[in-house]
Amino acid sequence: MQAYDLVIRNGHTVTHKEKIKQDIGIKDGKIAALGEVLEEGVREIDAEGKLILPGGIDAHCHIEQKSSTGLMTADDFYSGSVSAAFGGTTTLIPFAAQHRGQSLREVVDDYMACAAPKSVIDFGFHLIISDASDAIIGQELPAMIEDGITSFKIYMTYDNLKLDDYEILNVLAAARREQAMVMVHAENHDVIRWITEKLLDQGHGEPKYHAIAHASIAEKEATHRAISLAELLDTPLLIVHVSSESALNEIRRAQERGLKIYGETCPQYLFLTIDDLDKDGMEGAKFCCSPPPRNKENQDIIWEGLIDGSFSVFSSDHAPYRFDDTGKLSAGPNPTFKKIANGVPGLEIRMPLLFSEGVQTGRMDIHRFVDVTTTIPAKKYGLYPRKGAIAVGSDADLAIWDTEKQVTITADALHDNMDYTPYEGMVSNGWPTTVISRGRIVVEDEELKVERGSGIYLKRDRSEFAKPLERRVPEMDPKTNFNAKLF
Ligand code: URP
Ligand code: ZN
Ligand code: ZN
Repeated sequence: MQAYDLVIRNGHTVTHKEKIKQDIGIKDGKIAALGEVLEEGVREIDAEGKLILPGGIDAHCHIEQKSSTGLMTADDFYSGSVSAAFGGTTTLIPFAAQHRGQSLREVVDDYMACAAPKSVIDFGFHLIISDASDAIIGQELPAMIEDGITSFKIYMTYDNLKLDDYEILNVLAAARREQAMVMVHAENHDVIRWITEKLLDQGHGEPKYHAIAHASIAEKEATHRAISLAELLDTPLLIVHVSSESALNEIRRAQERGLKIYGETCPQYLFLTIDDLDKDGMEGAKFCCSPPPRNKENQDIIWEGLIDGSFSVFSSDHAPYRFDDTGKLSAGPNPTFKKIANGVPGLEIRMPLLFSEGVQTGRMDIHRFVDVTTTIPAKKYGLYPRKGAIAVGSDADLAIWDTEKQVTITADALHDNMDYTPYEGMVSNGWPTTVISRGRIVVEDEELKVERGSGIYLKRDRSEFAKPLERRVPEMDPKTNFNAKLF
């Protein structure tokens, strides 16, 4: 009888800290051995000349999610998970989105019923909390956190989602008590609303004005305010989808002061610019997301933030709306930017494009690549070391990368359910060619090898990073005369 179910030989494993030429023995879905020459496996893969990375973790994606205005994303948990797997991702943490009036239990049950029979890779959920009433925050949320949904997103903008500062304080206090990780969409709602009204009054409805309305100062102000509220209550906070230099600087300043403030950025801020929104006719709608891509100079600064450690997490923010009347053009063929669904797809290209433009160009160290795409998200969201590691005892979630393979990105070649990609024609140098989840070969020879519904739900631990700093000892901060522990 063979010692292992699968042995991968002759490859170089690459983690967030080391690169080693070693074989991997896999048994019962776990990494059972790492070493020079292992015993035989039932199945063997020769990875000579290839890199073996931990399977990626996409910790920000919207799949089979109904938006706050009632639009359904183009991907369900089957097409979304297949697309992610083809891009080297083996764990998804999408959102279970509460609409006002819904109980959190009902929301999670609904998303679970959608995901479990369809997802081909493992998944957990973050909650989106749009109703911060006492019953939701005080009673329902703690129960959800106990059930393994240990992080949640709140919004400072969007009519049907936004929380005011008072509500945000209630949410942060609950997160502090329960040691949950809070993620925030930081844009100043009234600034966006005010500029939007003025632009539309002047007849400026084209897609490019979306980026003017979502001014970077709106992002900066909300980021500063969210950080201030988190500081008041001594609560860790993760600012999601950061697009601008000024918001990044707020995060850096907070980190320099020792606060537990983390940042996430996404492919659209590294590979797209404001010029993409200024394409002919409605083409620019394909690039409308919030916050929007900024100019080239800003793009370089976001790159620097990802490389120098200011950002902790690189996620897709996959929010797929087709370029038709089910998505971007649901309000008609020529909607104003206010009526264009916000979001761009990115599940499949997230890792390959960053690998190509970051690692292969020498701009980004490969260990940093593994960290931001995989290991830090695993740690931040309570999955490490089960996920995000190549270690004995970890789940055998692995992606074998062919660094020589060149792929031209086209909508047709991607596996999501979209009719366009904002990255059409870009060339990726390097691609994950074999993708393994819990020892199962999910993708090989450009084919899907597993059944729908073969991914499993991940009950997540509380994040180490969600622990409050407890720096205000013994009772009161002498500078502010405020003691967060009282609340
Ligand atoms: O434009 C975006 N990012 N849409 C998705 C929803 C969100 O706020 O992340
Ligand atoms: Zn958001
Ligand atoms: Zn999002």
